[in-house]
Amino acid sequence: MGIPGREWLNALPKVELHMHLEGSLEPEKMFELAQRNNIELPFGSVDELRQAYAFSNLQDFLDIYYQGASVLQVEQDFYDLTWAYLEICRQQNVVHVEPFFDPQTHTDRGISFETVINGITRALKNGETQLGISSGLIMCFLRHLDEEAAFSTLARAEPYLEQIIAVGLDSSEKGHPPEKFSRVFARARKLGLLTVAHAGEEGPAGYVWAAINDLKVSRIDHGVRSSDDPELMTHLVETRLPLTVCPLSNTSLGVFDDMSQHNILEMLDSGVCVTVNSDDPAYFGGYMTENFEALVRGLDLSKNQAKQLVLNSIEASFADDARKTQIQTLLVSVSGS
Ligand code: ADE
Ligand code: ZN
Repeated sequence: MGIPGREWLNALPKVELHMHLEGSLEPEKMFELAQRNNIELPFGSVDELRQAYAFSNLQDFLDIYYQGASVLQVEQDFYDLTWAYLEICRQQNVVHVEPFFDPQTHTDRGISFETVINGITRALKNGETQLGISSGLIMCFLRHLDEEAAFSTLARAEPYLEQIIAVGLDSSEKGHPPEKFSRVFARARKLGLLTVAHAGEEGPAGYVWAAINDLKVSRIDHGVRSSDDPELMTHLVETRLPLTVCPLSNTSLGVFDDMSQHNILEMLDSGVCVTVNSDDPAYFGGYMTENFEALVRGLDLSKNQAKQLVLNSIEASFADDARKTQIQTLLVSVSGS
């Protein structure tokens, strides 16, 4: 019994299904890499950079996020970025992760696809052997770019399909509906990849329907606007199609004015398969434990609800059944209700 405190939440075995590796680039690391790679940043100091992290919407954030990614130049940079995230996962008892990467952010500035994926996958493999963190990598298409660019990114990924479990869709949502990428996603499915998509973050519930019907997704990333459409809510409850919700991201980008107004626990209580995730932890004030803590503070999250949210993440993950059972076993031994 009792309120879940930081220590209990940190020790809770957790699964993360919605985080962008580029969004785990901490300001200190950004400056370190800028220096290492001779890149000029438009900020004089770490403090000045942090002060720029006052976003009023998704686009405000994306402008800084893409600028920050410019310090990533060579394979070791992508390795270091991924490894730093995995070390925090270890500290926070996150035992399985399915991170996103945005290849176009890098290939469009002349970095090879190979450089990016080799750095990331080398770290993920070491994460598995040295830290015991299992993973599945998701390649996202930038939806503000066109279909042709997404097709050529998918073609570049073909030699690396063993390293990728799914494709996703991210970046500026409004004005870029999921169906813009129906044909690319059909091709990805044909290649044996699973599909997910950001939808219903800033965009309407109709985009969630389009991701389901046109992109045949296995999960919706964010999806918080689904609650505007009762028929969609019924569909989500009946099918258990998961939503990867990111509480601190939503309050940082003004999707909800305050955590006390967030709809995640209402959806949980209605039987929607909602999960907790960090999205871009270096930009939004925290990793997995901090997201759970924010729900305790803003919404009086209970220990039982926290455990149910992790059970949902296990159910929603692309891990095989044996790994899912292992993680469920870890969760059962956690005390408290
Ligand atoms: N890329 C990184 N974070 C994102 C978010 N929250 N929404 C859309 N695209 C993103
Ligand atoms: Zn995201």
